[in-house]
Amino acid sequence: MSDLLALARRYYDAFNAHDLEAYAALLDEDVELAMDAWNLRGREAVCDSFARFWRLFPGVVGVPQRMFAADGTVVVEVRRENRVAEDAASTAHVTGGAWEIITTAEAARIVHVRGFSVPGPGDRAAVVMPSRREAYRLADEQDALREVATLVTRGSSEREVFDTVSRVIARVLRADATSLFRFEDDDTLTLVAAWTRHGVPLPIGKRRALNAQLREIRATGEPHRFEPLPDDAPFVEEARALGTRSAIGVPIALDGRVWGIVFASTEGEKPLPAGTEARMVGFTALVATSLANAQARTSVQQLVEQLTASRARVVAAADESRRRLQRDVHDGAQQRLVQTVINLKLASQALEEHPWPAAHLIGESLLHAERATSELRDLVRGILPASLARGGLRAGVESLCADLPIAIDLDVTAARLPAPTETTAYFVIAEALTNVVKHAGATSAGVKVNVEDDRLVVVVRDDGAGGADPGAGSGLTGLFDRVEAGDGTLVVESPPGGGTTLRATLPVIR
Ligand SMILES: Nc1ncnc2c1ncn2[C@@H]1O[C@H](COP(=O)(O)OP(=O)(O)OP(=O)(O)O)[C@@H](O)[C@H]1O
Ligand SMILES: [Mg+2]
Repeated sequence: MSDLLALARRYYDAFNAHDLEAYAALLDEDVELAMDAWNLRGREAVCDSFARFWRLFPGVVGVPQRMFAADGTVVVEVRRENRVAEDAASTAHVTGGAWEIITTAEAARIVHVRGFSVPGPGDRAAVVMPSRREAYRLADEQDALREVATLVTRGSSEREVFDTVSRVIARVLRADATSLFRFEDDDTLTLVAAWTRHGVPLPIGKRRALNAQLREIRATGEPHRFEPLPDDAPFVEEARALGTRSAIGVPIALDGRVWGIVFASTEGEKPLPAGTEARMVGFTALVATSLANAQARTSVQQLVEQLTASRARVVAAADESRRRLQRDVHDGAQQRLVQTVINLKLASQALEEHPWPAAHLIGESLLHAERATSELRDLVRGILPASLARGGLRAGVESLCADLPIAIDLDVTAARLPAPTETTAYFVIAEALTNVVKHAGATSAGVKVNVEDDRLVVVVRDDGAGGADPGAGSGLTGLFDRVEAGDGTLVVESPPGGGTTLRATLPVIR
């Protein structure tokens, strides 16, 4: 008791000096000492304990006002009357298992004391202040759950979640070994993770047949105690080799069925205490959440992959029909027109003796045929230049630049690349150079294309007006779509007055 009085004096001094830090430190260090004696249950007991708590402070009177539960939080309101803060009200919260005493007068949280809320018999909410040992045990359990929950929310791998769960369950329960199994469709189960006190490795990935008890657990979803271990249990030799005498199995439920099971076992004579199953449930729920998240992630990922693939197929199909059209026009109508021009030229020579009116008609036809040839050539170049298909990207870009009104510095790899890469690169360069001519007012522009590792890097730059805005037309937006559909990236840098640089990085898939 004299200890308590000394303690109370230190609180009192800190409190009256308005020294929140010292006050908080005292509570953090010492209140558990005092609380060991206050093993309380029920509303009256809490109020009583508060009355006693405040009585530790001579001259400080705290009157418990009311207690209520909200969202799993037990709130005890205490009216405090003292010299320092008259009429100030303090509120003590029990939140998620941990006590916090908050003073509204100073508008600051001053302390965090370990204590835990549990529903008491007949109470809507009651408070148990556990013994210090129990408090530490629960705190450890909360820490372990938090550790696993953090991994789950971060989307860590199955492997990491399973390994961590095996390790922390063993720590929290003081078990000698833990193991995590997945039930398979063919009446077997697979060991997916394990932890053993002495670091003995267990055969992860091994699959064994179920026995009757495990079949029952899978059917009912109820925890089960194996005391002693049955001879026909799968992995019983490995368990015995570890010195295991008894084990508890808690199933992992996912989507309304039993996905797997977690075991905790001990070597000693004494089996794990009653209530252990309940303490394992929080962990199995986290394992299930992690599995459900992973499934959701996989289905979203599959959807994204499907969409990306279909986008790429659309572009590839369009390219292929362009190539076919280009080939057909080039090999068909264009050739025939060329032939017509030649024939007409020969005919006009032969008719020199009778120049009029046949010569006039032929001359006119010749003019039309030549115009049609040149129009067709332009059309075919717009679809895809023949030089691209025949001579590769360098030849395609050279023929593109030959028709432009400004000189372009060219540095284009001579390497032949897969058709989709060449076609996309060509469209990027063609649109970028068209924009240079149409919008930039540049004095110089250049194209650089080279292969870096397994990527083709295309850079088109000009020293013109800058300020390119993909939202203002359809050309640049079309390029983004095309490049991204092929799993590439496109970056447009175009500060106003600072020229424009387009950089496309395209995969070279052979
Ligand atoms: N190299 C450039 N220099 C300056 N401005 C540019 C350049 N490239 C594009 N822009 C600006 O960005 C806008 C969008 O370009 P985009 O290519 O998307 O459309 P567009 O060329 O106007 O039309 P189109 O759909 O025929 O390509 C252009 O209208 C122009 O104002
Ligand atoms: Mg454009």
